[in-house]
Amino acid sequence: MMKIAQTIDAIRAAREEYGLESVGLVPTMGYLHEGHLELVRRARKENDRVIVTIYVNPKQFGPSEDLSRYPRDMEHDLELLSNENVDTVFAPSDEAMYPADYQTTVIVTQVTQPLEGARRPTHFEGVTTVVTKLFNLCRPTRAYFGQKDAQQVAVLRQMVRDLNFNLEIVVCPTVREKDGLALSSRNKYLTAEQRAAAPALHQSLRAATVLWAQGERNSDTLRAAMLDILSAVPSARVDYVSAANPTTLQEYSDTVAAGQGILFSMAVFFGQTRLIDNVLLPPGAE
Ligand code: PAF
Repeated sequence: MMKIAQTIDAIRAAREEYGLESVGLVPTMGYLHEGHLELVRRARKENDRVIVTIYVNPKQFGPSEDLSRYPRDMEHDLELLSNENVDTVFAPSDEAMYPADYQTTVIVTQVTQPLEGARRPTHFEGVTTVVTKLFNLCRPTRAYFGQKDAQQVAVLRQMVRDLNFNLEIVVCPTVREKDGLALSSRNKYLTAEQRAAAPALHQSLRAATVLWAQGERNSDTLRAAMLDILSAVPSARVDYVSAANPTTLQEYSDTVAAGQGILFSMAVFFGQTRLIDNVLLPPGAE
């Protein structure tokens, strides 16, 4: 029987029961799709116990972002997780996570600055704060995150190193629709016309990947190739396209030196809906 813990005491008690067994943690904000379920399945394969958290963390949304309209469907989420043989779901209230006298924020400095961090200034401190709390409560052996949030992965890896969390971060590939659109809970906001145009993100990433494979190393040319495809889509408004160092996330300028990997990434608005996507080509993938 899958347990549902809603309080700090309840998740502590569940974790206590698992003792020295290995625990896989899958932190989510709910409204689960196949991308989340792939994380859960990997965690199920690799650990004695699986804990999934469902919490729409207010601290990672900016004042003008979509916190109040972020999609939620707890009943359906619980049914999906029960089918995947999850041991415990932690679904706390805001009061449980951030009581009235709450005062602490976890801040990772450099790797949070570019890309998403430049457009969403308080986003990553919200993520690192909540993930620290989830790590402390669930004490996982392994924690599972999707490559779709490439910068989140880089930030959390840095935090785990810096704060000596005794766990392994496992990153799972982005799950895509047949036409290449990366799965996201936010895809639900797209109109039919926007949905039809949204695979342009993936197409532009593929164009850059092909050029990279052909030996193109001029970062301006690689960014221009992505921008050309996105600019041709009337309903798309490009927030940024990036060709960056995959570890530091610093934007490349001019020619990428031999032996370096590359992270192609982008954020694109369709109306109010902001989609992100990326492709990571690690060093040695040339
Ligand atoms: O990736 C997400 O869904 C969230 O940022 C996370 C890791 C669950 C923290 O709220």
